[in-house]
Amino acid sequence: LAVRAAGYEEELVKTAKTIASPGRGILAMDESNATCGLRLASIGLENTEANRQAYRQLLVTTRGLGEYISGAILFEETLYQSTTDGKKMVDALTEQNIVPGIKVDKGLVPLAGSNNESWCQGLDGLASRTAAYYKQGARFAKWRTVISIPNGPSDLAVTEAAWGLARYAAISQDNGLVPIVEPEILLDGEHGIDRTLEVAEKVWARTFYFLAENNVTFEGILLKPSMVTPGAGCKDKATPEEVAKYTLTLLKRRVPPAVPGIMFLSGGQSEVEATLNLNAMNQSPNPWHVSFSYARALQNTVLKTWKGQPENVVPAQIALLTRARANSLAQLGKYSA
Ligand code: 13P
Repeated sequence: LAVRAAGYEEELVKTAKTIASPGRGILAMDESNATCGLRLASIGLENTEANRQAYRQLLVTTRGLGEYISGAILFEETLYQSTTDGKKMVDALTEQNIVPGIKVDKGLVPLAGSNNESWCQGLDGLASRTAAYYKQGARFAKWRTVISIPNGPSDLAVTEAAWGLARYAAISQDNGLVPIVEPEILLDGEHGIDRTLEVAEKVWARTFYFLAENNVTFEGILLKPSMVTPGAGCKDKATPEEVAKYTLTLLKRRVPPAVPGIMFLSGGQSEVEATLNLNAMNQSPNPWHVSFSYARALQNTVLKTWKGQPENVVPAQIALLTRARANSLAQLGKYSA
């Protein structure tokens, strides 16, 4: 089968398949230092490197995590960090068969000429950064851009998001990293679920158009979509079955079966809601591995249990295993509350 001649093709396809393995999903623990600071503040901790290290160490040293988690997305600091015992965080993950990944975007800034929308920075220097991350042990990457429904979305914002994702994906693949393609359609707004589907169809159509234009190998990418739900401020709520029906409709209309894995973000859903929605999506056969790449929906209880106290590390790790196992069952369509 003819593939693009970059040298990493086989490895990319293998990495993507490993991450999309049955009953497993991704732990997103790539909060930037600023966002990690907000999480630490919520349990009364200061945003110091030592506190970030203690928290990330708790996560990556959870024994048995690899049964449910196939990949962990790290922030750059963690990729180069060791545990307090001097073990590289990356090694703690690979020992458990968890593939280390890296957030490579440089965050959102205002998009000039738009309706108060944003765009995602980080393409400058990305080739050398991804090459360095590969050397450090990363095998996949994440780039998160956002689309706001109440602010438009304007054609300009959608095109910019899709183009940025496609350039990032091509550069990541050239340097051996499987790109996670994440245009997050924010939950904010009072719109109904039909409007979310309409916007998501447009965003994914343009994203796949540019991915193809940039010669990205579809077998070596993973997607991180938002589930199709009503806006957070909409008075109509949707059941997990409705969310599953709309989201699968979107995927079937827009995502080629060559893509191995669909790893949803939780986007502010509660832990149980995110699990129930995923479980509902896995009640019928589909061509992909439909799974999770949750941050908040895996970590909320962990943080509250830990509170920065050494004696709470083990209970917090048990809380992480509980959520990871629930989502693993949901990936298999076998979760019951
Ligand atoms: P949430 O699951 O908390 O939305 O975060 C996932 C993520 O990594 C967003 O990019």
